[in-house]
Amino acid sequence: MTGRIWCLTIVLTLLLGSSGGCEQKATTDAPSAGKGQQTPENAATPTAAGEKLVVGFSQVGAESAWRTAETTSIKDEAAKRGVELKFADAQGKQANQIKAVRSFIAQHVDVIVIAPIVETGWEPVLREAQRAAVPVILIDRGIQVSDDSLYTTLIASDFVEEGRMAAEWLAQKMGGQGEIVELQGTTGAAPAIDRQKGFAEELAKHPGMKIAKTQSADFTRAKGKEVMEAFIKSDREHIQAVYAHNDDMALGAIQALEEAGMHPGKDVILVSIDAVRGAFEAMVAGKLNATVECNPLFGPILFDTIEKLRAGATLPKYIKNEDRLFDQSVAAEVIDSREY
Ligand code: AHR
Repeated sequence: MTGRIWCLTIVLTLLLGSSGGCEQKATTDAPSAGKGQQTPENAATPTAAGEKLVVGFSQVGAESAWRTAETTSIKDEAAKRGVELKFADAQGKQANQIKAVRSFIAQHVDVIVIAPIVETGWEPVLREAQRAAVPVILIDRGIQVSDDSLYTTLIASDFVEEGRMAAEWLAQKMGGQGEIVELQGTTGAAPAIDRQKGFAEELAKHPGMKIAKTQSADFTRAKGKEVMEAFIKSDREHIQAVYAHNDDMALGAIQALEEAGMHPGKDVILVSIDAVRGAFEAMVAGKLNATVECNPLFGPILFDTIEKLRAGATLPKYIKNEDRLFDQSVAAEVIDSREY
């Protein structure tokens, strides 16, 4: 976005343009929006015809197959629509994400998209974006802020609901009786917090079922295997079921169970979340019992939302992805139609 066109837009729109208006978009002197409001700039400033929309995307990292699918979807859609995407991989560190957001602000991007690693610690940098009148869209994970005008909208799945779906399915499968070990996602991340919450809430309806052990395995296959090995070592006899907050950790757990001479999918029931291809392959092989879908293909909906924003539409604060559960009984039939 060139400064001259921003200047022209502001002058024409406001007629009473102030002398510093052309420079204000990216300075910290611009007025910030009130609670629950959007600034006129972030609500409706269109990109001039023929001019490239510039979007900065701060991604968590590449910890899982799901994450890679999300990155590909957003990069592909940006390329398809002729959007210039500035991509920053935070390699699992919030400090890197904050740095990337500051750099996007300094580069005067039109929109900033963040997939936040953890829920807290965002207010200062989001205030900087707001003062610079750069709208922020949260993708995939939510955050905790005292003022929700600090971001424009969140596009994500309902992680609490995913946890509930997993627990409901498991309770039925186990006839309401049994002990479960839980592999949690990254500590402090919305999907880890909410998937634990939803699962525990649903499980409370089944007094015969309990979580015997729970530990973070950071959403990775390697740590899923490592934590599962420790669980097996300390209490092998009591492991009847595994609830993993994502498929990668479940796949790591399957490996650990097999190496310990156990039979995942048969004498240990496994349910996880994401519904990536590897999970379907494991279900077809009879090693994973069920997975709850969490759709990572955000590209189309993200750029549709950005277009609406720039056309001046008022966006809901939350745009929800619909998810469903797949179990072994449908895996072979569905696997070829999976897009990720
Ligand atoms: O935020 C979504 C979660 O993050 C996915 O379930 C997981 O695989 C990823 O790394």
